[in-house]
Amino acid sequence: MSDKVTKISIIGGYGKMGRWLARFLAKEGLQVTIAGRSLQKLEEAARELSCRAAPLEEAVKQAQVIIISVPIGSLEDVVREIAPHTRPGQYVFDIASVKQRPVEIMHKYLSGCRILGTHPMFGPGAESLQGQRFVFTPVGDEEGSLAEQLRRQLESRGAKVTIMSPPEHDQLMGMVLGLPHFIALVSADTLLSLNSLKEAGEVSGTSFHLLLTLAEAVLSEDPDFYSSLQMSLPDMAGIEELFREKTGYWLNLVREHDGEHFAQRMRYLREQFEREDPDFSAAYRNLYRLAD
Ligand SMILES: NC(=O)c1ccc[n+]([C@@H]2O[C@H](COP(=O)([O-])OP(=O)(O)OC[C@H]3O[C@@H](n4cnc5c(N)ncnc54)[C@H](OP(=O)(O)O)[C@@H]3O)[C@@H](O)[C@H]2O)c1
Repeated sequence: MSDKVTKISIIGGYGKMGRWLARFLAKEGLQVTIAGRSLQKLEEAARELSCRAAPLEEAVKQAQVIIISVPIGSLEDVVREIAPHTRPGQYVFDIASVKQRPVEIMHKYLSGCRILGTHPMFGPGAESLQGQRFVFTPVGDEEGSLAEQLRRQLESRGAKVTIMSPPEHDQLMGMVLGLPHFIALVSADTLLSLNSLKEAGEVSGTSFHLLLTLAEAVLSEDPDFYSSLQMSLPDMAGIEELFREKTGYWLNLVREHDGEHFAQRMRYLREQFEREDPDFSAAYRNLYRLAD
C-alpha cells in the first residue's frame, strides 16, 4: 500500500468477525471505526472494543482502508450502499467465505477503488494470528501486488497466506468447508435417529469421538452462516451428489456382504492417500490401532 495506513473502517463491525478484526487492528495501533445498521449494537460494541463508531457514510469517507465483514447474502446491498461514498485509490477488502461473486460485486460497483478479496480461514475464536491461514484472491496485476504486500505483512506476524483466483478458491472451499459441514450434519442427523447417543458415548472409542467432535463442532456454529455457504459455494450439490454415489457404492458392498471388495477398496484408498496426503502418517494409524 502506498500511504501509511492509520485509519480503517469495518462495515459489519459489531458482527463476530468484525469484532475480531476491530480488536486485532486496534492492537496493531490502527485507528478503527466500526459501522453497522443498529445504532444501539454499534455503540455497545464500540464501548466494548474501545474503538470509534460512525454512521456508514462517515465511516467510509474517513477511512483509508474499508473492510466489509457482512453476511454473504448482504454483500451486494452493502457494496452498493458504500459505493457513492468511496473515493478513487481507497482500499476495500471483503472477508466473505466465498470469493467469486463477492469479488465480481466489488469490481462492478467500486471500479475506482483498490479492491482485494480475502478469506480468513479461521473463526472469531482465534486468539492470535500465529499459524492462522488466509486466502487472497486478487484479479489482475495491481491486485496481485497488493496481495503480495499484505501477504508479507501477515506472514511477518506468523500467519500463512495462499494466493489463488476466486473460482479456484470457491472450488476448493466446496471440499474444505462445504463437504465436511455436509457430512457432519448428515452424521448428526443419523446419530440422533439411532436413538442411543448417550449410551454410545459411554462405550465409545476414537472413531466415535472424532465423528461426534465434527458433528458437534458444526452444530455449534451459526446455522444462517452455514446455510449461506451451502447455498453460495458453486457446485456444492455436485460434490454432495458424488458423496451420495460413493455412499451407495459402499452401502452396496455391505448389503451384499462383499467383505473382500470392501477390504480391497479400503487398501486401495489407503495407498492413494499415502501418496497424495503428506499428513497421512503412521501416527494417525497408530492412534486408531491403540484406541479403538
Ligand atoms: N464466522 C466465521 O467463522 C467466518 C470466518 C471467515 C469469514 N467469515 C465471513 O465473514 C463475514 C461476516 O461473518 P460473521 O460470522 O462475522 O457474521 P455476523 O456475526 O452475522 O456479522 C455480520 C455483520 O454484518 C451486519 N450486516 C448484515 N447485513 C448488513 C447490511 N445490509 N448493512 C450493514 N451491516 C449488515 C450485521 O449486522 P446486523 O446485526 O444489523 O444484522 C453484523 O454486524 C461473512 O461474509 C463470512 O462469510 C466468517
